[in-house]
Amino acid sequence: MFLECIECKAEYPDTEIIYTCKRCGGLLDVIYDYSKIDLSVQKLKQPPSVWKYASLLPIKREPVSIKEGGTPLYRCDRLAKQIGIHELYVKHEGLNPTGSFKDRGMTVGVSKALELGMKTVACASTGNTSASLAIYAAKAGISAVVLLPEGKVAMGKVAQALMHGAKVLAIRGNFDDAFRLVRELCDREEFYLLNSINPFRLEGQKTIGFEIIDQLGWESPDRIVLPVGNAGNISAIYKGFSEFKRFAIIEEIPKMTGIQAEGACPIVNAFRRGAREIIPEKNPETIASAIRIGDPVNAPKALHAIYDSEGIAEKVSDDEIIDAQKSLARLEGIGVEPASAASIAGLQKLREQGVIEQDERVVCVTTGHLLKDPEEVISVCGAPIEVEADIEAIKRVLSKSISK
Ligand code: F0G
Repeated sequence: MFLECIECKAEYPDTEIIYTCKRCGGLLDVIYDYSKIDLSVQKLKQPPSVWKYASLLPIKREPVSIKEGGTPLYRCDRLAKQIGIHELYVKHEGLNPTGSFKDRGMTVGVSKALELGMKTVACASTGNTSASLAIYAAKAGISAVVLLPEGKVAMGKVAQALMHGAKVLAIRGNFDDAFRLVRELCDREEFYLLNSINPFRLEGQKTIGFEIIDQLGWESPDRIVLPVGNAGNISAIYKGFSEFKRFAIIEEIPKMTGIQAEGACPIVNAFRRGAREIIPEKNPETIASAIRIGDPVNAPKALHAIYDSEGIAEKVSDDEIIDAQKSLARLEGIGVEPASAASIAGLQKLREQGVIEQDERVVCVTTGHLLKDPEEVISVCGAPIEVEADIEAIKRVLSKSISK
């Protein structure tokens, strides 16, 4: 196993602490000697989990694990009917131990930190990464430092980072500022950087792709739809599918379909130009705070994933995100945070435009749990109705709002 620059193909040993290519600044990828890996469906009998796929993960020691992955893949017929599609599934990553898909990356990333002898891990975050980092660092017995954009992170996520003992700093700036600063901090202080620029962390996240195939009975869906922020997850899932194709477990890579919010959509704009590079946005804004990112670091990998799989990048408005969040909650009983609902909103929009066909088999990835962002819920659903502790008063209120 070694690291390779995706641009100039320079190689680095997997023991080197490095996040981008020293020669050209390009992103790095983990390369395995696939001829030495024996992977076949017959051998993959255990229930889905991140570590079920240990032979395709870059860790040699006992992992730091709190049982991540193995999230449900729900068939969603009521929502499918509303959207006008025959076969729709939701992979609910909000049911990971800390409530988001980040745990898949952190179990690998924090295990790597221990392998490399690092004593402190760090990240910038719109919230979920910091929560997950704090929890895995706690489990590993090492320190965590997180930089958050001040006042811009959902309360559930801040609560997790604080309770699990991370040093939490609120930066007067946005996520992109926090990310620039944490990179510098990691270089100066020898902290181990666990944002998705870290290629080892992304290896854990590719298991979302493995599990979708696994849960569909070793069949491939036509399309994956997911929210895109810093653009690591779409790149990682695409890599997972590519590996399964290499092992002839699937024939085709599903169309990678990335959804961004209208106020933070540099990847969509690049896709519309047919470009492989983004133009960063200075003041990203959306109710989906998890994907409020103007300068996604993994854009080159994500755009490659989209183009190579004949996928699409599309943007949705905050209102469309909120409507989709409510539909998913009320038709399917799946509670997600706003960023996750962007995937459903994107599917709806692309279906209405006729870009996605009715007979496609689609999987939407919902990345984070509803409970992460209770403030958004109150602002879009309103607070509970206050009523006297009296049966007549209760009946009066209900008669106005419930149809029998
Ligand atoms: N959905 C949720 C709930 C997220 O927290 C994130 C990213 C994304 C989608 C986008 O994933 O960055 O891989 O494209 N959250 C990061 C964080 C940025 O700091 O928690 P991506």
